[in-house]
Amino acid sequence: MLRLIFLAALAGLSRASDVLEFTDDDFESRIGDHELLLVEFFAPWCGHCKRLAPEYEAAATRLKGTVSLAKVDCTANSNACSKYGVSGYPTLKIFRDGEESGPYDGPRTADGIVSFLKKQAGPASVELKTEGDFEKFMADQDASVIGFFADDKSSEQTEFLKAASALRDDYRFAHTNAEALLSSHGGEGVVLFRPPRLTNKFEDGSVKFNEDKFTSNKIKRFIQDNIFGICPHLTDDNKDQLKGKDLLVAYYDVDYDKNPKGSNYWRNRVMKVAKGFLDQGKKLNFAVANKNQFSHNLSDFGMDGVSGELPLVAIRTAKGDKYVMSEEFSRDGKALERFLQDYFDGKLKRYLKSEPVPETNDGPVKVRDSWIGCLTMSTLFPLTVRKGKYGFKKKPNLLFKKIPFNFPLGSMNPNKYKL
Ligand SMILES: *[C@@H]1O[C@H](CO)[C@@H](O)[C@H](O)[C@H]1NC(C)=O
Repeated sequence: MLRLIFLAALAGLSRASDVLEFTDDDFESRIGDHELLLVEFFAPWCGHCKRLAPEYEAAATRLKGTVSLAKVDCTANSNACSKYGVSGYPTLKIFRDGEESGPYDGPRTADGIVSFLKKQAGPASVELKTEGDFEKFMADQDASVIGFFADDKSSEQTEFLKAASALRDDYRFAHTNAEALLSSHGGEGVVLFRPPRLTNKFEDGSVKFNEDKFTSNKIKRFIQDNIFGICPHLTDDNKDQLKGKDLLVAYYDVDYDKNPKGSNYWRNRVMKVAKGFLDQGKKLNFAVANKNQFSHNLSDFGMDGVSGELPLVAIRTAKGDKYVMSEEFSRDGKALERFLQDYFDGKLKRYLKSEPVPETNDGPVKVRDSWIGCLTMSTLFPLTVRKGKYGFKKKPNLLFKKIPFNFPLGSMNPNKYKL
């Protein structure tokens, strides 16, 4: 009896999930209930899915009432999963009014999912009517792109709204026709406002779009060129946009929620030095990042485990070359200045991580790319035959066969197929 009561209490304690669970039987009927819906196709054995689960759960809770999140276990519901061409786990797809509208390629963190879906919910561009609406829209951790138009039928407004629909995944858009807002913000035009928390004395907090032609591509170019300014805050949400550039990052306890002052204290020191070089026409991108959030990057530079409040600085170039600032960061910025001078003079030695190189292809090889996720068996087997990796040992006299997609999904755990 006691045990029963105890169990009942436990059940009461564990909170119900905010993630909807769909099956083969109800998938088609339930997706239609949602204007905007994110669906995760997963397999319980998949490590990437397990890592995503708490983030997905947290995102669903934060988005409750705005956007719904659902999941489908593909090992038990193979029809829904094969209908939507799922070939790896987890696969995330966006549905609008019951129709598949595209893949979700954003970050796999609660913050990233929430920020992405918020941009997807509601109209592509929010209409602002009052100064209050304006302030509310601006009070966000991301930049704001706002169109000010006297005439709501103008071709400029039409083009702006087109751009907003095309780019809503990446940026936040609003527009206004309110006279009071036009007069208090410099008249007609499109203005990019950088995030208020990153306001600094080295650059303007807003930039005006200055082209005669209002096309979606021109607007996109303008935003890409200006959104980051001299030194953005690198987050899971924007890190992909900064990939493939020569980038210097200062890693420290960046935290704009708990300690915006301290976060900007060091950032301003980096910016001051950066601006000096940029003004000379030197080309490099700069960013600040939280050192715990990006600890895997610090370990790539051999700097994990370094404690203290001083920023740790490293450069990764578009080609993948790495440079580490070995001198301690100084408050007067001189150490960073010397490091950058040496970098631009080509005097720095590349940082090479000493890692034992595996001699053979035997034994399980870890799939490092967190993006792929887990592969379904039909994808995994041909790869295995070609490359002899992904945890399988190649045996010379063993014949692999391609397994059709409708292979019983319940038995897809690759661990069961160790050879
Ligand atoms: C951080 O690590 C990821 C994954 O290894 C890499 O793709 C990215 O370029 C790194 N970022 C920086 C700033 O070093």
